[in-house]
Amino acid sequence: MKVLVIGSGGREHALAWKLARAERVQAVYVAPGNGGTAADPTLRNVPLTDPQALAEFARTEKIALTVVGPEAPLAAGVVDTFRAMGLRIFGPTRAAAQLESSKAFAKAFMQRHRIPTAAWAEFTDVAAAHAYVDAQGAPIVIKADGLAAGKGVVVAMTLAEAHAAIDHMLADNHLGVVHADGVARVVIEEFMAGEEASFIVLSDGVHVQALATSQDHKRIFDGDTGPNTGGMGAYSPAPVVTPNVHARVMQDIIQPTLQGMAREGMPFTGFLYAGLMIDAQGQPRTVEFNARLGDPEAEVILMRLKSDLFEVLMHATDATLDKVELQWDRRVALGVVMAAHGYPATPRKGDVISGLPAATDALRVFHAGTVADGERTLTSGGRVLCVTALGESVRLAQQRALDGVRQIHFDGAQWRSDIGHKAIKH
Ligand code: AMP
Ligand code: GLY
Repeated sequence: MKVLVIGSGGREHALAWKLARAERVQAVYVAPGNGGTAADPTLRNVPLTDPQALAEFARTEKIALTVVGPEAPLAAGVVDTFRAMGLRIFGPTRAAAQLESSKAFAKAFMQRHRIPTAAWAEFTDVAAAHAYVDAQGAPIVIKADGLAAGKGVVVAMTLAEAHAAIDHMLADNHLGVVHADGVARVVIEEFMAGEEASFIVLSDGVHVQALATSQDHKRIFDGDTGPNTGGMGAYSPAPVVTPNVHARVMQDIIQPTLQGMAREGMPFTGFLYAGLMIDAQGQPRTVEFNARLGDPEAEVILMRLKSDLFEVLMHATDATLDKVELQWDRRVALGVVMAAHGYPATPRKGDVISGLPAATDALRVFHAGTVADGERTLTSGGRVLCVTALGESVRLAQQRALDGVRQIHFDGAQWRSDIGHKAIKH
């Protein structure tokens, strides 16, 4: 069987690596892939990104299963394109992917289905947005509606920050966020206190299987300080998701979401990612939905998955996920992202990467922003590598990952040395 993975990040390297180990899989293509997937003899890069071109490739090459990594092709309707051609693909349709691609859609959906989340209001009018913030007070959260690659959220601790964020997103639209109807829009939310966790499930539209829990670290610097990024590291499992919290998340958030989407005529098939805020009483609320695996959550989750991913995803595309029982490595997986000089604002490209350690059962380097240049591997994006390790404890997994990081060199490399700190007992 041949498999196609769409995307070019660390998540897609991890998906491709795992699928290449599946019993029935003979070839794994990655479109467009990166320097790591290029260097792996079990994977093949394909220089395609257009949905129609990808579907034609899948048909010509008789690809048995396509898996979509990132949100952009989902929001562009790649799943609809494949299905219209009778091709098997795992991911949500464009309509279902609105749970991620439109924050306004997601918030209205959660309200319709009584799914716990922060109170919110939506604005296109600048003056009305300013007046609302004055009435609500700080802290308060301002979000640009539309895909802004994690950069469209400001958690404003003061009113001045909130007003500045509104001007930035609404008055000037500096983010250049493209909206379906061409109008810039912000969602203004109640600030939620608590600890975050990533809760990702597989859904075939009817049945659901929860993946192992995880937690990522969005800020660039140690101690969760500095600007937000796509994620500087992650670990799995997340101890904040106790069995009790897990049950509440399934009952109060995941099940009503999947049932609601089905009832509204857009059954959700694919990876559904609920970003959670869990308060001191263990009550989970939804911060956001993503219509895909997280990155770097995927790297740590897939490092722990013992089941054959191809067979699982075949069930997921046959609506027989109820026949699956996922098996997990009991060890902790922890991934440390090595980011480029200048990330997140102005990542530099073209630095030479050296010292990449050979993979072992317990240490594996997933590539993200890298490109092959003859024998060399160069940086080509903000998040460059995710050095992922398994260990008997969070601390041991962290030490092993950092040992890997210290062997690797590229100019200007940035990484955090405290990934997993919330789960390490001092
Ligand atoms: P989002 O892109 O919606 O996931 O937001 C990015 C980050 O902003 C989240 O991971 C949280 O750390 C923070 N955040 C978003 N919404 C809220 C909220 N209502 N209350 C507190 N923090 C939030
Ligand atoms: N790591 C967060 C995300 O993938 O959205």
